[in-house]
Amino acid sequence: MSRTMRLLLTFAVVLLVPLPFAAASEPMHFYPRPANGLALTPPMGWNSWNHFGCNVSAALIEREARAMVASGMRAAGYRYVIIDDCWQGGRDANGNIYPDPKRFPHGMRAVVAAVHALGLKFGIYSDAGDQTCQGRPGSRGHEYQDALRYARWGVDYLKYDWCNTGGLRPRAAYATMSDALRASGRPIVFSLCDWGVRQPWRWGAAAGGNLWRTTPDIWDAWRGRRGFSLGVLNILDRQVGLGGYAGPGHWNDPDMLEIGNGGMSEAQYRAQFSLWAILAAPLIAGNDLEQMDAATREILTNREVIAVDQDPLGIEGHLAYRHGEAEIWVRPLVGGREAVVLLNRGIRPITVRLSWAELGLPGYLPLRLRDLWRHKNLPVTTHGRRFQLAPTSVLMLSETPLRPQPPAAKS
Ligand code: GLA
Repeated sequence: MSRTMRLLLTFAVVLLVPLPFAAASEPMHFYPRPANGLALTPPMGWNSWNHFGCNVSAALIEREARAMVASGMRAAGYRYVIIDDCWQGGRDANGNIYPDPKRFPHGMRAVVAAVHALGLKFGIYSDAGDQTCQGRPGSRGHEYQDALRYARWGVDYLKYDWCNTGGLRPRAAYATMSDALRASGRPIVFSLCDWGVRQPWRWGAAAGGNLWRTTPDIWDAWRGRRGFSLGVLNILDRQVGLGGYAGPGHWNDPDMLEIGNGGMSEAQYRAQFSLWAILAAPLIAGNDLEQMDAATREILTNREVIAVDQDPLGIEGHLAYRHGEAEIWVRPLVGGREAVVLLNRGIRPITVRLSWAELGLPGYLPLRLRDLWRHKNLPVTTHGRRFQLAPTSVLMLSETPLRPQPPAAKS
């Protein structure tokens, strides 16, 4: 076949490709990246954004890391100290990223070393586009260079945002950075942040992600929206049906915690913590750990609730019941137990009946219920039980099935 013929044939084939195939949002040659073996339970840590925004510095990160240890949070399982946007100074003549020299006078490696010296891990932030959401240099076109730089600094975690990404396709862009992180030779947890707009739960793990945001930013409020940001209930509503996509090494991320930031009541903060644990969500505190009061510390370090979040089975909980302002969320745990959150979304007290049907169990089974906030066992019960719930609050329980007694032998 002549060269011209071959060219004409190729041209004809291209024209004949059906439109949906040609218009697919991602190239067809994409191949799933193997898991990196990290984040087998949802990552726990602290991030600067919710409380400090752009006001980050080496001094702040080191103070918060020390407070993570002093407050008992490290002992409760928190590990990652994550600096969010605005740490960047610029790129040098060779394109290497460097931190803002005024705020990080000794460079980033020194900050990472200080965090590591406390037995903690260090996380950093970048963006798949030309610029971050706050207009700092993004990683587009510098993915391998940045990943290598982070690895040399000793970074253990990367949150990768999606601002200013015109013309980029998310799955491919995130996979490129995940390839770059892998090529750096350092184990780095990879956190995807496209705000859930392109359904990252469908492709996030295949693109090499360990977690992916499922929603826009959280707002420190019970319900409602402010601009781009959503209250806790609005975020919760968007988690329904996503549970099947999560598991060890790859988690849905309904954004960070607002506990202790002042916009909600103590009961509402307990609710956020309980719901995030039922959802197997990353537990990334977003308050000032140095200044937190006893109530905030008690919520963030509740080991019984943390144990639910970190349950090794890694099965995300699901919405088992909804009626009016009442919801019941259930999460299977290792050893045949389950965790349960009874939620009152509304501003009036309500009574909620938990029946064993919601738990997927036969009614005759005696269960031992334990209140994970009061740290108390409740009397063993069969069939179900009613609970009073204060306005905008939760009750969080675990249930352990007990062996039913065999029926008494007839004489
Ligand atoms: C986006 C992210 C936030 C935060 C900011 C920083 O809005 O969703 O979590 O990282 O950018 O600019």
